[in-house]
Parts: sequence; C-alpha cells; structure tokens
Amino acid sequence: MPRPILATVHLNALKHNLQTVSHHLRCLSRTGETTPFIWAVIKANAYGHGIENAVKGFELADGLAMLDFEEAARCRVAGWLKPLLMLEGFFQARDLFDIENLSLTPVVHRFDQIEWLAQHPFKRPIDVYLKVNTGMQRLGFAPADYASAFKQLQALQATGQVHHITHMSHFACADEPDGVASQIQSFDVVTAHLPGGESLCNSAASLRHGAVASRARPMTTQVPNSVRPGICLYGSSPFTDLTAASFDLKPTLTLSAEIIGVQHVKKGSGVGYGHQFIAPHDMCVGIVSCGYADGYPRHATDSTPVGVQGQLTHLVGRVSMDMLAIDLTALPQAQVGTPVILWGEGGPNVDTVAQHASTIGYELLCAVAQRVKRQVNHV
Ligand SMILES: Cc1ncc(COP(=O)(O)O)c(C=O)c1O
Repeated sequence: MPRPILATVHLNALKHNLQTVSHHLRCLSRTGETTPFIWAVIKANAYGHGIENAVKGFELADGLAMLDFEEAARCRVAGWLKPLLMLEGFFQARDLFDIENLSLTPVVHRFDQIEWLAQHPFKRPIDVYLKVNTGMQRLGFAPADYASAFKQLQALQATGQVHHITHMSHFACADEPDGVASQIQSFDVVTAHLPGGESLCNSAASLRHGAVASRARPMTTQVPNSVRPGICLYGSSPFTDLTAASFDLKPTLTLSAEIIGVQHVKKGSGVGYGHQFIAPHDMCVGIVSCGYADGYPRHATDSTPVGVQGQLTHLVGRVSMDMLAIDLTALPQAQVGTPVILWGEGGPNVDTVAQHASTIGYELLCAVAQRVKRQVNHV
C-alpha cells in the first residue's frame, strides 16, 4: 500500500479555466479589437501540475510559455506542435540549437543575446519577443536602450535570422486596481512608433485590466497581441481581494490524504511539537498523512481549514514533517481511513490555505513534493 497522500490534477478544470479566461478577454476587448493570442504559462512543471498534464489541459491554448529547455522538449515529445515561448530567453549561445530544433520563441532581454543570434547559422528565421523593463526591474532592456536593441533585431530580419519581433514587458503591480498605468505609459513611449505586436498581461492584468490585452497597436501588425496568464489557469487568484471562484475559475489540483490515527485529547493537554496548541476542551484529534515534506506549509495556523466528509474542520498544533493534526470533535463519523482534503475539490481553495500560512497559492502549488503521487482526473 502506498502512503495515503495524492495530488489529483483535474484536466477538465484546466480546460475550463482556459476557456473562462479566453471568454473574459473577449468580453473585455473593445469593439473592433481582437481577442489576444493566449500563451498558457506552464513554467515550474506547470505550477506543480506536470508538463504532460498541462499539454493536454491547455490543448486549446495558442501557445505555451516556460523557462526550461527540458520542459520545452517534454512538450514536443507530448505532441505539442504549436508555439512555445521561452520567458527567460536563452542562457548561452549554444542554446540557440535547441531554440531552432524545438522551434522555440525566445525572449530577448540583453544585448549579448542579440550578438549570439547574429552569429548563429539559422536555417530559417525565428520569432522573438523583445523585452523592455518598464518598472518591474527584473529582465528587459532599459527604455533608453530599447530602440537600439530593436534596430539590431530588425537588421537580423534583413539577413533572414529573425522573423516577427513582438514587444513585451511584465507588470509588477497588476493585482492592484491602478497597478498598470505607469508601466503602460512607459511601454507606449518606447514602442509606439515601432512595428510589431505586443505582450503585456499576466493573470492579474488579464483579469483586472483585460482591455489592455486586446487594445489595438498604433502601428499595423500581422501579429496579434498576446497575453501570458499563469496562476489563474490553475484555479488560484492573483488577487488578495478577489477569489478565484468570483471569476468562475475551478480548482485544478486537489491535495488529499487520510486519517491514519485518532487521539482523544483531554482539556488542557498540548498537541504536537512544542505543544503549541492546548485543547480548550476534551477533543477528538485526527492525525493526517500529510506534512511539510509533502509540500504542505509548515507555517499554517491552527485555524487553517481542511475538508472532511464534505465539511470543513481545521488544523490543531504545528504541522510536522510527515503529519498534521486536525480537529474531529464535531465529526464523530470520521475514523482511520477517512479521506482529508488539504485543498482543492471537497476542501478549501488553495488560496485560503495560503492565506493562513502567510504565503500565496503559487507557492503551495509549486511546492507539492515529488514524493506525492500525481493522478489525473479526466472528468
Ligand atoms: C514574464 C512572465 N509572464 C507571465 C507570467 C505568469 O504570471 P501569473 O502566474 O501571475 O499569471 C510570469 C510568471 O511569473 C512571467 O514571469
């Protein structure tokens, strides 16, 4: 018998969330403007869901975006024929052989990458995304250098090494109501007179500022604008003030375990390491086969909800490496073998658990440990 803990990936929820985001963008686009091309972001093993599952779940996406060449290769092996965007570009000149062989679209964000492109013996031209740093202060050319970088890439269009150039930037505060205005202003100043499509929006911007995603470029272009949603496709909200359910986004990964022990704890007794929790009355406590080595957050507080038999109860005491304790006092039917939903279908949303652990849904989804077996649910 394997240890009773499981991460179930819901393929239909991945499909549903992609459709929901696409519909949302269509509704937000102004008349006459087109729905943008959607890159489903699948970096970090598809936010913990597995690359191959993401390839199936996002089969209707226009493209997939990631960072690792190995993950890009897995997409091709899994049968993905559409575009793949490499969000950190390439790290050394010889990566361009992978870019060419796997037909990848790299982000270009440094001048040395342009030199490597210029020296590479391409058999056919590749599409590139040119990134400008409009305020995130992470990757991208300084606005003052952008025109020069664009000109150098245009020269490579003339020599048949580069095909389309798309203008790209990344928002730092798109989760805030007013969070994109200054970066858009800076982006427009730099790119307004340059040909090519644009790509700006992550999940937060797609959901909160979706009209930006489908706005028309001042210069005509053959390439549509594109968006790069990630977290929302996995049923988690990028916002602290708006839930995933409020956007009709469904949980895509359920983390479940079982009760493997039951303790009858007297009022005043401590539970778990450090006796951090003291029973306020006589209690029934269930010991669950999930701990921080499985990816459950160690800092989750006593009030963190879990689902048991269709009801919510909560953690008691510190999470240990392989186990955690929950209050079963109001659940007399629960016993050894009863399933416990840590998050996902039948339990709390991953974002609720994250809030109780002072973190974000992204971190919990990515942190589900290798030792937790993944199963795929097709319905
Ligand atoms: C460049 C870029 N685009 C898009 C995304 C997707 O972001 P999110 O998961 O917040 O939608 C990321 C993720 O960090 C990113 O780095």
